[in-house]
Amino acid sequence: MTNSSFRAVYETAGIYDKLLLRHFYVGTEDIDLVADWLTEHYAAPSASLNIVEFGCGTGRITDAIAPYARNLVLADYSETMVAAVAQKFPDAQTICADTGDAVTSLIAADRASTFDLVTAFWSLSYPIGEFFEELSSAGVRPQRDQAVAADQARKFVLDLVGLVAPGGHLLTMLFDAESPEQQLVTQAWETVAPFPDGGRAYTRHVLIDALRDAENRGDGTLTHTRLGGVAWAPTRAAARDWFFGVHFKHHPQLLGDRDLEQVVEEFIDEYHMPNCGVALPSGVHFIDFHAVAHPRASLPDGLAS
Ligand SMILES: C[S@@+](CC[C@H](N)C(=O)[O-])C[C@H]1O[C@@H](n2cnc3c(N)ncnc32)[C@H](O)[C@@H]1O
Repeated sequence: MTNSSFRAVYETAGIYDKLLLRHFYVGTEDIDLVADWLTEHYAAPSASLNIVEFGCGTGRITDAIAPYARNLVLADYSETMVAAVAQKFPDAQTICADTGDAVTSLIAADRASTFDLVTAFWSLSYPIGEFFEELSSAGVRPQRDQAVAADQARKFVLDLVGLVAPGGHLLTMLFDAESPEQQLVTQAWETVAPFPDGGRAYTRHVLIDALRDAENRGDGTLTHTRLGGVAWAPTRAAARDWFFGVHFKHHPQLLGDRDLEQVVEEFIDEYHMPNCGVALPSGVHFIDFHAVAHPRASLPDGLAS
């Protein structure tokens, strides 16, 4: 590994793409889950939609959505990631900011209700989590008032929904905190600091609860699917780097933990397939909020007057 400084995975060029494992759910790679959803909803790409992607990373899933975009906005807090997507998608508008600030700046720029697609893949748990706690190389510091954090996080989700144009979608993929892989990750981070609400699923609960509230107040419909699958590591070393570089972000306390190293080795042993790499059990939550005037606009065409 070339760089093992804290958060190098997102902040040093080339590391994310090098450490990332391919993920397959019910036989389909995560990027193809998005591509298939796009085909189902929009048929052939027609470069006609206003699209924003938050936490875009190096533009891996942007590859699937870009052909549908007339206007594409790509946002990420990491300068390294933004530099990578600016090169890959030169026509896109880029924003280098925390997702919360990027959403606020788009609303201030009169972009509320203008995006046919508001997307965030594997990246929304970070800005939601930051309302509740601050992660640094020194450790994890909970925000003082967790009730205030919950209100702010809920408002953030509703602001995200507020960017969606009538008839448009908020589409997001979130990790499954209850999978064996993520339970190991939670157990490791718990040695740094406990999570609010007893585990790392709380960010998803915040998101789902706020979207359900939005549905209940008539702003749209929430579709939420959990898919089981695998993160596939071609070698044991790739699986090890995945844990320490991506999941543990080279956090100094976790890098130096011999017991954790042992737990990770045993986990890899369990899912190691001779001659075929390591198939780590994984899950993804695929979440689509469709901005329609619910329930009045939710009837099929034949029934709606
Ligand atoms: C797991 S990667 C996913 C990247 C990309 N969406 C993909 O699927 O390959 C998470 C991304 O979120 C970004 N990120 C993390 N915390 C963030 C925050 N608070 N605001 C904006 N971006 C953030 C990271 O820089 C990284 O690019």
